[in-house]
Amino acid sequence: MWKFGVKTHFIAELQSLSEGERVKIAGWVYRKSELGGIVFIRLRDSTGVVQVVVKEGEASKEDVERARSAGIEASIVVEGRVKRDPRSPTGIELVASRVTVVGESPDFPIKPDSGEEFLLDNRHLHIRTTRMRNALMIRREVLRATEEWFIKNGFVRVEGPTFVGAAVEGGATLFEVPYFNRKAYLTQSSQFYLEAAIFSFENVYTIQPSFRAEKSRTRRHLTEFWHAEAEMAWADLNGMMDVVESLIRYIAEKVVERAGHILESLGRRFELPEGRFPRITYDEALEIAKRKGVLIEWGEDFGTEAERAISLEFDLPVFVTRYPKKAKAFYHKPDPERPDVVLCADLLAPEGIGEIVGGGQRIESLEELLSRINEEGLNPRDYEWYLDLRRYGSVPHSGFGLGIERTIRWITALPHIRDAIPFPRTPTRLYP
Ligand code: 4AD
Ligand code: MG
Repeated sequence: MWKFGVKTHFIAELQSLSEGERVKIAGWVYRKSELGGIVFIRLRDSTGVVQVVVKEGEASKEDVERARSAGIEASIVVEGRVKRDPRSPTGIELVASRVTVVGESPDFPIKPDSGEEFLLDNRHLHIRTTRMRNALMIRREVLRATEEWFIKNGFVRVEGPTFVGAAVEGGATLFEVPYFNRKAYLTQSSQFYLEAAIFSFENVYTIQPSFRAEKSRTRRHLTEFWHAEAEMAWADLNGMMDVVESLIRYIAEKVVERAGHILESLGRRFELPEGRFPRITYDEALEIAKRKGVLIEWGEDFGTEAERAISLEFDLPVFVTRYPKKAKAFYHKPDPERPDVVLCADLLAPEGIGEIVGGGQRIESLEELLSRINEEGLNPRDYEWYLDLRRYGSVPHSGFGLGIERTIRWITALPHIRDAIPFPRTPTRLYP
């Protein structure tokens, strides 16, 4: 890791040093106590926590006084020598010879008993806490593994724009923004742009934010979420599900391999059981939901409650395929053997989490796509460029979108999706 002159070591590096070695470390005061005139500071940096002992004789009276007056989260630089101490949880301590306060921190507002709303209002400070740092490190590993899977498998990254002119996933959740003397919207999905890019690169992906004006205040909706999307030329629905399954397995494996200890500190025992992900139809899923007392009519999309009931039947993520045409967006390819359902699949994560991936096979015929656009009452002029993709060298193709925060929530078992993103956006939250 980069060091910038202030320090000789990161805290995690102290482990490998021998008794008596002199070091200079820098970080923030995590805990502090005093016993018999000796000040004990648990100092944290990005790599760990170490106990610093500040006492007269080893340090000056002024150093002890500075240590005593440093508040929680004050930033300090400590020079001292390593002391091996089998009683300390990390096996070492640092005996300070010099303490410098770089930034004071009088009365840090985050307290062990701070309420949820207060913590959200102070998110910019809350992200320093162990719990939030752990959650954000899992996020880092999920994003890293996702990108890595795509790179390893030869997918080319192509980003879509954030300002767009028309809906992908229905008008109800569009965010409208003024765009000079016109209206623009924030993108709900980069799918159509990825579809355009398959003609250059065949297999493409992106990882970027999508926006939904979801008024529903649930534990699984954000208004701005990170969306990993992929589109594959020549892939049918089954090929798409194979890709999703391989990607999800890779993410789960890598997160456990690289950050299993962090999941443990979050109190989470996570393991993805062996075996292929089950693939069931909407009709079969509907029966499960009904049997468990969730009443839905054939034709309706599944809500939180139904997905919960269905996903609790399985200990692996389950693909639910072939939803009724009217429950899904216009671009889904109707099943040629049964045109009232479409060749789509949602992946429901276990433990009641529900949908983390949505995707399917796209309509590749110009006539069929046009008629679906008209059937849905959309304006074909908004989709002229998208229709062009069917005019010039159209191919069968499929793709999907994976919600990064929903995936993190599943892996971590965080109670709320907002803790899977550093600065969550929900209908009521725009600050900080
Ligand atoms: O199922 P959705 O709406 O599908 C699409 O947007 C497709 N155009 C994707 C594609 O095929 N390229 O969204 C995909 C995933 C969902 O399964 C969910 O994980 C996540 O995006 N998602 C949300 N996550 C958090 N908050 C929201 N409001 C979300 N809406 C969707
Ligand atoms: Mg969906």
